[in-house]
Amino acid sequence: MSNQGSRATARHYYDRISIAFHWLTAIIVVTLFAFAQTWGFLAKGTPLRSALQSLHISLGILLAAIIIGRIVWRIMHRGQMAPASTGLQEIAAKAVHMLLYLLLCTQVTLGFLFRWSQGTEPFRFFGLFSIPHVAVDPAWRSTIGGLHNNVAWAIILLAGLHAFAALAHHFVLKDRVLSRMLPAKNRGV
Ligand code: HEM
Ligand code: HEM
Repeated sequence: MSNQGSRATARHYYDRISIAFHWLTAIIVVTLFAFAQTWGFLAKGTPLRSALQSLHISLGILLAAIIIGRIVWRIMHRGQMAPASTGLQEIAAKAVHMLLYLLLCTQVTLGFLFRWSQGTEPFRFFGLFSIPHVAVDPAWRSTIGGLHNNVAWAIILLAGLHAFAALAHHFVLKDRVLSRMLPAKNRGV
């Protein structure tokens, strides 16, 4: 597809679709994490705990679709973005972004495997439809659950570092790194 964007015509700001994908991903990931931490404090079987768990699963399915869409969109438009910085800083930023994509894909896969390992537990998308069951040996359940928990913390820590770097660019270095990911009307730089 459109991969002709040479450095001369490269964009300095993300397009609207990429910006929407980015902030939707960020909001959903933080919500999924917050829900899991909250239900950890609630007694098993309480209605709120069950509601948070089924919302976690529905939002998890939505996140899977968003990540697939985001990656397809990115591949279709690769080469169009001008780098935000140069040298080591550019390499570090790219490495963090790639690691975030890798961790998100791993986490979504683990989430699906986790649900399937829970046997007959419902796997529904906001009550609209069910994800077909795939047989995953319940003996793997606690291993998959442990990995899902560890990857969740890795994503939150790395995304926190990434957000901190973006804010430092904006408020300390005063460059346009953060503005690149903001809608046109919110760009200060
Ligand atoms: C970045 C995205 C995600 C984050 C940060 C996240 C985080 C978590 C955390 C921290 C737990 C608690 C784990 C434990 O206590 O051992 C959990 C549980 C769970 N997650 Fe996720 N998760 C994500 C995506 C998904 C996805 C995509 C699915 C599947 C659609 C999913 C399905 C589950 C299930 C089935 C549980 C166990 C619920 C139960 O105890 O019945 N998660 N998640
Ligand atoms: C869970 C939360 C987050 C995740 C998973 C995440 C993930 C990502 C990923 C994968 C990219 C690379 C985009 C691409 O080139 O395809 C990116 C870019 C970016 N993110 Fe985040 N992000 C999160 C939160 C945040 C927050 C809170 C901020 C701001 C405070 C932020 C600011 C940015 C900026 C400015 C870029 C563009 C950097 C550049 O131009 O090189 N992100 N993010």
